[in-house]
Amino acid sequence: MSQSVCKVAVLISGSGSNLQALLDASAQAGAPFSVCSVISNKPEAYGLTRAAEAGVTSSIIDHREFPNREDFDQALIAEIDSCQPDLVVLAGFMRILTPEFVRHYSGRLLNIHPSLLPKYQGLHTHQRALDAGDSEHGATVHFVTEELDGGPPIVQAVVPIKKGDTADSLAKRVQVQEHVIYPMAVTWFAEKRLHMLDDRTQLDGELLPRNGTRIHC
Ligand code: GAR
Repeated sequence: MSQSVCKVAVLISGSGSNLQALLDASAQAGAPFSVCSVISNKPEAYGLTRAAEAGVTSSIIDHREFPNREDFDQALIAEIDSCQPDLVVLAGFMRILTPEFVRHYSGRLLNIHPSLLPKYQGLHTHQRALDAGDSEHGATVHFVTEELDGGPPIVQAVVPIKKGDTADSLAKRVQVQEHVIYPMAVTWFAEKRLHMLDDRTQLDGELLPRNGTRIHC
């Protein structure tokens, strides 16, 4: 493996299907990144099994064992930094991070959120898109800043909402696209094509639109 391969730490809380997409992409010949560590705040997260099957080191930092968010985040930082990653990827990591944590990884911390940000920050995004009568929905990969779900978007997958969709059917179609756009964004970062400049995203030397690059599915 080339020495310039970008080392990625992945934080999860659950199933880890996005982690799987990243592991699969990193296993391709010539992939510019490798997953050096998987960390879960939940001992029962299925993503830990996915990491083991891929032969990737994993660890559990259970937030319930810490008296406050600051102590938890400091333990998280220590564990992440033990593999000296170039990039930290939140893949269904369902904890709000402290400003100290976000600042520590500024410009090298990515998240995926199941909506077309800035629409539907927070939870229950699929149901909220249906309730609003939207004709399209999707997912966004973005840089993480101190504003929850508010950092500059990198890429959005736009998914049409179909007649008769439920939150579950919509979530399933959106997730298929999450598994496309997350490895894509991580690859761009690993190839040093992607940067956060203040509150904007730069790809290949050009500032992206405020919503990031849009892919219609
Ligand atoms: C993904 O759909 C991701 O977009 C969402 O959690 C799911 C995790 O699935 N993330 C958020 O809601 C973050 N606010 P996974 O564990 O199968 O990758």
